[in-house]
Amino acid sequence: PRPILLTRHGESQDNVRGRIGGDTAISEKGEIYSKKLANFVRKRLKSERAASIWTSTLQRTILTASPIVGFPKIQWRALDEINAGVCDGMTYEEIKKNMPEEYESRKKDKLRYRYPRGESYLDVIQRLEPVIIELERQRAPVVVISHQAVLRALYAYFADRPLKEVPHIEMPLHTIIEIQMGVTGVVEKRYKLMD
Ligand code: F6P
Repeated sequence: PRPILLTRHGESQDNVRGRIGGDTAISEKGEIYSKKLANFVRKRLKSERAASIWTSTLQRTILTASPIVGFPKIQWRALDEINAGVCDGMTYEEIKKNMPEEYESRKKDKLRYRYPRGESYLDVIQRLEPVIIELERQRAPVVVISHQAVLRALYAYFADRPLKEVPHIEMPLHTIIEIQMGVTGVVEKRYKLMD
């Protein structure tokens, strides 16, 4: 069975500063990850000529994919990170201090909470539907380079995790989650390539 490889982009400038959203480039550490990832993909998908690399439309995923050669790359807007609306570019500390009600309502119901002029996890889950349909249609392996919230939703779908857990699934940087759909169900492996 063909694998689906899920990974977040390499560490971004905003990750370093603790800012959410945005469209910054990757850091030096992020670049190191992009090379390790390319190496991993080259070995793992050696004889898989029909494989493809899917990214979001944000710089940090496109840059993370750039050292990967020999496979077609497709950009999906539906793979962009959760839209934090008026909170885009803020740190969690700043949200807590400047918009305490927003901070509290998100904490109370992270799945349903929608950022003002932005999205909720439920919104993200809904917009991922075409991506999921296309992923299920693919016969060849796919490497999905996306973002924390989006990958939680995608992973939950394939690993059959309940909705309420989605916003809390661990989705660390610099880690590849490999999913294989077998006859007996889903087999999952995690490869932590660096800290
Ligand atoms: O901090 C990185 C990030 O991808 C942000 O852009 C995004 O808002 C956040 O993670 C999503 O995670 P959480 O739902 O836990 O805030």
